[in-house]
Amino acid sequence: MEEKISQIKKEYLHKIQKASTLEQLDEIFIGLFGKNGEVDQLSRQFSTLSKDELKIVGPLFNQIKQELEQAIGNRRQVIKEEIYKSLENETFDIKGNEIKKRTGHMHPLTAFEEETAKIFNKLGFVQIDAPLIDTDYNNFEVLNIPENHPARDLWDTLYLDTTNYQLPTTKLLLRTHTSNSQIRALKSSKLPIRLMNIGRCFRYENLDARHEHTFEQFEIVYVDHGVSMANLQYLSEYFLKAIFGSDIKVRLKPKYYPFVEPGVGVDGLCIFCKGKGCKVCGGIGWLELAGAGMIHPNVLKAGGVDPNEYSGIAWGFGPARMAMIKYGIEDIRLFNSGDLKFLERF
Ligand code: DAH
Repeated sequence: MEEKISQIKKEYLHKIQKASTLEQLDEIFIGLFGKNGEVDQLSRQFSTLSKDELKIVGPLFNQIKQELEQAIGNRRQVIKEEIYKSLENETFDIKGNEIKKRTGHMHPLTAFEEETAKIFNKLGFVQIDAPLIDTDYNNFEVLNIPENHPARDLWDTLYLDTTNYQLPTTKLLLRTHTSNSQIRALKSSKLPIRLMNIGRCFRYENLDARHEHTFEQFEIVYVDHGVSMANLQYLSEYFLKAIFGSDIKVRLKPKYYPFVEPGVGVDGLCIFCKGKGCKVCGGIGWLELAGAGMIHPNVLKAGGVDPNEYSGIAWGFGPARMAMIKYGIEDIRLFNSGDLKFLERF
């Protein structure tokens, strides 16, 4: 035991002399005196010593403890003095260093949407505009959602007070989805139609990590002879693979939307748990990324397209949802928060 103590002393005195920074000294101190440090470990072995041995080892142990502590203190002082000396000669040039220049960059959602648009561009889809303030007719009625239809509950929104304005319609609202672009796509284009609309939508929502009152959607409309659910399945997979990588599995599940028949939810296998079920996918194993379906004959007719000759498919993707999954963003409200700490992560 005496030998062990002397050996520790020798080893640590050497380390202390070699230390050139305060951080190194701190580490040495912890190695010696910290929890489970050398001193701690040695003193735990005292119970195995006889009384006579303890009489010799005890004082030696205390003496070496003190010596090492002292050596650390002395070395600390020397290093500090060296630092002060080096600072005496230091000059500080404040010119050209006044304010750190901040360069802006694209908002993560805008960047994500541009990436998305490029994928569909390559397939021949062209972007169109649709107004954020629209008529009840374009947002609901023409999409097979008449007034008092229970499906309206899904898209509760904010209505504009038009009493003081002379307008052709008094029923104006903040659009609840990019599907208000469908009627414009059908009316304004020559067939076949391959159009998309990306932009803001609004809902009267209960806000939480997945729901925002102001959010983005991405609408795709494809109308031609013989367009079918097979095209919908293929394009959904093509798109989601381009965004999330070729590993992603895609499924279509039946879902009701009044403006499509049949309607589906487009799910991607949860990339976090690979289908096992986790917090992000709510234990389901799948994440819903879009609503979609075959455009309802009534909608085609309203847009002047003959449903006996043509058929169409449409999707409404949630880019924020997809970007959250792709970049591991935990709360949808961060996108509109203007929080620089969040924005600078991208
Ligand atoms: N507009 C729907 C929503 O906001 C999503 C949607 C469903 C869009 C089916 C579509 C569609 O184009 O075919 O919930």
